Order: sequence, then C-alpha cells, then structure tokens
Amino acid sequence: RTVFVLNGPNLNLLGKREPEIYGHETLRDVEERCTALATRLGFALRWHQSNREYEIIDWIHEARETAAAIVINPAAFSHTSVAILDALKAAELPVFEVHISNIHARESFRHHSYVSAMATGIIAGFGTQGYDFALRRAAQLLG
Ligand code: DQA
Repeated sequence: RTVFVLNGPNLNLLGKREPEIYGHETLRDVEERCTALATRLGFALRWHQSNREYEIIDWIHEARETAAAIVINPAAFSHTSVAILDALKAAELPVFEVHISNIHARESFRHHSYVSAMATGIIAGFGTQGYDFALRRAAQLLG
C-alpha cells in the first residue's frame, strides 16, 4: 500500500522561509521522519514537492492509479486552484489536507481552501507534526 504526500509551492524552502511561521525543520527532515513512520504503519510513502501546479495534478493522477490515500499540503494553491480540487475529486481516494500554520489565524485570503470541500480531514496549525497525524489517520482508516 502506498500513500502519496504532495507538497505545493515554496515548501522546498521550508526551514529557511519565514521560520517564525513554519519552523526550522527542512522538508527533507519531515520527509525522513514521515518515511520512517510510514514504514512502521505498514505503507510505502511517495513524497513529492513542486512549485508547478501541473506537476502536482500529474502526481494526483498517478496516485489515482496506484495509491491508497493522498496527504497534501497544497500551500498557496489551496487558496487558488480549482484544478487541484478537480484532480483530487477525480482520484476518488481519502484526502488529508495539511497546513503547517493555522491558516484561519492568518490573512483572510488564507481562510478559504478549495481542497477542504472534499477533504476527508484537515489539519492546520500543528506545525510539521500535521503530516505525522495525517499519516496515522490514513493508516487507521485504511485498516
Ligand atoms: C501553508 C499555508 C498557505 O497559506 C501558504 O501559502 C503556504 C503554506 C501551510 O502549510 O501553513 O505556502 O499551506
């Protein structure tokens, strides 16, 4: 069983980018921790990050064929992308939306996420631990 973890724009700069909001860990640190967790939970992780919307859509299409669930931090695309919403709907998989920061406590343009309308669950404001929580929930739901 495979779970895709997809990360949107600017998350390649995690650890360097606004650390007071997003913390000091790099995306690589989070990937390593989550890969170890996934192994313990009994599934393989496919971890991706892109600054390009079409690449994220292509990975969602790939997940549709091969994955049991999707964990996604669409980053700024959360607030803009109907295309990512449509791809996730088409995937017909459980989707766990993760935001490192509490988007509801920030600028109003971050309060709405297109993805949330179809997500199985949403995690925001738990830092990078949100990814771990999402993976644990995926394991629980997948049985
Ligand atoms: C984010 C929140 C978004 O509003 C922002 O554009 C990001 C990261 C988060 O993880 O808190 O890039 O998704």
